[in-house]
Formats: sequence, structure tokens, C-alpha cells
Amino acid sequence: MKEFDPIAYKNMVKAYQERDDPMGWFDSIYTDAQGNYKAVFWADLEPNPYLLSWLKNSCSQQPGCSAIVVGCGVGDDAEALSDEGYDVTAFDISPEAIRLCKDRYPETTVNYLVADLFDYPSHWAENFDLVYECNTIQVLPGKYRVQARDAMISLLAPKGYILVSCRSRLKGEQEDDIPLPLDKEEIDGFVRCGLNEKSFESYDDTQDPPVPHFFASYQK
Ligand SMILES: C[S@@+](CC[C@H](N)C(=O)[O-])C[C@H]1O[C@@H](n2cnc3c(N)ncnc32)[C@H](O)[C@@H]1O
Repeated sequence: MKEFDPIAYKNMVKAYQERDDPMGWFDSIYTDAQGNYKAVFWADLEPNPYLLSWLKNSCSQQPGCSAIVVGCGVGDDAEALSDEGYDVTAFDISPEAIRLCKDRYPETTVNYLVADLFDYPSHWAENFDLVYECNTIQVLPGKYRVQARDAMISLLAPKGYILVSCRSRLKGEQEDDIPLPLDKEEIDGFVRCGLNEKSFESYDDTQDPPVPHFFASYQK
């Protein structure tokens, strides 16, 4: 198995971004894991605790509602939503990520499939009560971040919720970082697009040194 090298990783992502192929590298992260989902370096291998807390405290959505997980990775958050009673679709642009999910959860009720957020099946439009995004916008550059936000919003059914979980930064800082965390103005784009902000948390995670994050929920 390939050892994760953060400098080589950033250089590789930068090279793809510079030739305007910002999604061309994702599958390699999963194929490098050689069938072992535990070897995907960005996978926490547990559901996002802020998602679990939102699910516990939110009485706005009832089990049986539909949810879609954007860029689902190895599936922990999709499974958590399914466990909560949502009818879950989870997609990723990486075929190998979806293969790992299916191998990992052979009995799952989640509908895992390969799809591109920028070219998703037309019947998904305005079709989901809950859209869940964790760390996808931050691994995209420039105009693709705005397009990703707009595509995510377009999946929302009337009155639907979108949850956005990401790294955060202060405006003007870390401009060249990969991943590039969202600043407040960028995440506020969900409000500028007409959604109502229902909750907003800014917190540091438990890494050493701690990494600042946002977790926000918006309603259409
Ligand atoms: C940083 S990973 C996060 C994965 C997962 N959400 C998590 O929190 O562990 C970003 C994910 O988005 C996926 N992705 C990137 N662009 C995408 C697109 N246009 N459509 C669907 N998935 C995409 C990548 O393949 C990758 O799995």
C-alpha cells in the first residue's frame, strides 16, 4: 500500500487544478487504498459527530424522508442517516469509493452510486428532504466551489435542509491551501442563494494542532 505523502498529495492536486481537471484525481485516492477502506487517508471511519448531534436535536425532519449524501467517500455518514430512518442515496464521482462502500456494507439499505455532482441524474433535481455535504467544496478550486454549492442547493426539495460540514479559515488567510477551507463569506453563499440559516457552529476539532471547522444547516 502506498504511504500517504502530504506534500506529494498537494502537488498532485495542484497539478490537476492547474490543468482545469479538478476532479481527475479523486479516484486515485481510493484506488491507492487497494481495497482497504481504512487506508483512505481522509476517512474518519465514523459518522461526523456534528451530523449525529443535528440528527438528535432536529425535530424538523421525520424518518422516512429522503436524504442524499454528496461525495460520500467510504460511507460512514450515509449509513448514519440510514440508521436514523432516512431513505438514503449516496454518490461519489469515484467508482472505487462506491465499490469500497458496497464491499464495506453488503447489507446496506443505502443506494450507493457513482455520479457527478455537476451532471447528476435529472430526476434528482429538487427531490431530497436532506442534502448532506462534508468536505467536498473545500477540495475543489475557484469557480467549481460556487458551482458545487449551487448544484447541492438544486437537489433540495421545497422546505428541504442542507447540512454543510467543512474546514474553516479567516478571510484572506491560507489562500493557497489544499484543501482550501471555507471562510464565513463563502459559506454565507448558501444564504445569499435564498436559503434560511437554521444553525451555525464554528469549532476547533480535536487534532493537534486543532483544525477550525464550520457546521451549518440551512432550509430552503
Ligand atoms: C474530501 S472527500 C470527503 C469524503 C467524505 N464526504 C468524507 O467526509 O469523508 C471529497 C469527496 O468528494 C468526491 N467528489 C469530488 N467531486 C465530486 C463530484 N463532482 N461529484 C461527486 N463526488 C465528488 C470525491 O471523490 C471525494 O470522495
